[in-house]
Amino acid sequence: MADHLTYEHDVIVIGAGGAGLRAAIEASAGGVSVGLICKSLLGKAHTVMAEGGMAASLANVDDRDNWKVHFSDTMRGGQYLNNWRMAELHAKEAPERVRELEAWGAVFDRTKDGKILQRNFGGHKYPRLAHVGDRTGLEMIRTLQDHGIHQGIEVYMECTVTRILTDGERVVGVFAYDRERGRFRIYKAKAVVLATGGIGRAFRISSNSWEYTGDGHALAYDAGAELIDMEFVQFHPTGMVYPPSVRGILVTEGVRGEGGILKNSDGKRFMFEDIPDLYKDQTADNPEEGWIYTQGDKNARRPPELLTRDHVARCIVKQIKAGKGSPNGGVYLDIAWIKEKLPNAAEHIKKKLPSMYHQFKQLADIDITEVPMEVGPTTHYMMGGIKVDAESQMSNVTGLYAAGECAAGLHGANRLGGNSLSDLLVFGKRAGEYAAKFANENKYGEINEDDLKSAREDSLRPFEKDGGENPYAIQYDLQDLMQDNVGIVRTEEEMLSALNGIEELKKRARGVSVTGNVEFNPGWHTALDLHNLLTVSEGIARAAVERKESRGAQFREDYPNKEKEYSTFNISVRKSADGDMEISRLPIPEMPDELTRIIKEMG
Ligand code: FUM
Repeated sequence: MADHLTYEHDVIVIGAGGAGLRAAIEASAGGVSVGLICKSLLGKAHTVMAEGGMAASLANVDDRDNWKVHFSDTMRGGQYLNNWRMAELHAKEAPERVRELEAWGAVFDRTKDGKILQRNFGGHKYPRLAHVGDRTGLEMIRTLQDHGIHQGIEVYMECTVTRILTDGERVVGVFAYDRERGRFRIYKAKAVVLATGGIGRAFRISSNSWEYTGDGHALAYDAGAELIDMEFVQFHPTGMVYPPSVRGILVTEGVRGEGGILKNSDGKRFMFEDIPDLYKDQTADNPEEGWIYTQGDKNARRPPELLTRDHVARCIVKQIKAGKGSPNGGVYLDIAWIKEKLPNAAEHIKKKLPSMYHQFKQLADIDITEVPMEVGPTTHYMMGGIKVDAESQMSNVTGLYAAGECAAGLHGANRLGGNSLSDLLVFGKRAGEYAAKFANENKYGEINEDDLKSAREDSLRPFEKDGGENPYAIQYDLQDLMQDNVGIVRTEEEMLSALNGIEELKKRARGVSVTGNVEFNPGWHTALDLHNLLTVSEGIARAAVERKESRGAQFREDYPNKEKEYSTFNISVRKSADGDMEISRLPIPEMPDELTRIIKEMG
């Protein structure tokens, strides 16, 4: 019997969240055969954790909104390290992608006159998030699945890819195993789209579920692709902190978008203590009223809880460190207070935030329409990832594309909430379109037998050792190491000690052993995930050490200021010929005058 099964598709998409599904739909529309591989069950993706909405300048709620404002908000949020062309394409194309999703059956909340309703979110000047209560990501996945299922896409569930196969010049396929039976699989392909999502499981406290072990990042890196912006990990300000078993689960920014306010243990609304200069307008800020004004624009007011995520997360940490936290190590998020202003507030909360209501009721026995929630920062999103061409989403490995969270560029140093769902749609579509085009123009390549042999041997190595270490112990130690040393507040000393720790963990990972056989064996799966987790963790720590300043999601206690010299390049991470991780500085191409002008006009 062959020691692997072989499949053949013009385009293979790895990952079936929003980006993967959208890419698969578009590739299929391009007339090629498409295989969609997912590590978990179809529909179980971190996309559903983007609960509060997708950002697009539809201008349904505020007619001053347009792509230029969205572009400029995204660039400001990303502290100008963004790939400006991606930010431009995203802002221009997001409205069309949202309308298309609606045409495919997504049931958005509505304005009184029947348009798609949009809500406020951090860093967006106007209400911009098209939403479905607090289940927007879920609705997006449902719609894409329903639509995609009729496109002739072949879906391979519970299948993990361990290697991108190349012929030295371009992609020729992928090596994988099916999680249930443990059988190896080879997928021959002309083009491969990575859409594997993030890296959240490298940290102890995370909104990400078990699948998010940096697979796409590491697969691309091993295949020779360049990663950028790896120092920028987004800690969402509000995750659950209690009970301990659910620590890290997301509490949507939509709660703050609907009027939720943050308070410390003194009952003080602490966000007014630290308003960045950019947003300061002493005459307009009015803590009593509860608003600050975007760049002093009195017609664009927002609560300070809706400043960018990096800032809000740091303000929360500051309160906790100052001993003003809640009993379980968070702060308070209060939406119940809107009772003072709104008749039927409880009904309103249950309607706009149904998942949050049930989440707290069922997991923490708390009625959020009556009492405040306890919340704290949670690892949520990775800005860093595979460097791609803005138009096509191709990486520097020919035929290898990436979209969504595992790709980098759009968000720069910090992503605005809601920009992820629109990112998945805009760049998922582009990746699928260009991958299909590439497949139509190229033949299948030759798979190298030695590569297959070594991929097989690497995969089975954990079975060869007796009495080696348990892979879970290594994963837990890595999560602690990253959480404690490369988290929200960083220092050189701690990060260097993390890098030493990662070297130790790599040695331990080489000695890992698993028992049993290849049939559904979670220990084995975890042993194989370790390589990816360790690769991305090293990339994060090395890039963060290299960036000796504080910007966006990276806050360094030893370099607390933003430095002009660091605004001109992205940090790149690559595998050198001898297998070591190489760090370099990649100059950001100059922005065209037209875009510079737009940013200036927007203040
Ligand atoms: O808070 C949220 O609903 C998350 C949204 C996002 O990450 O885009």
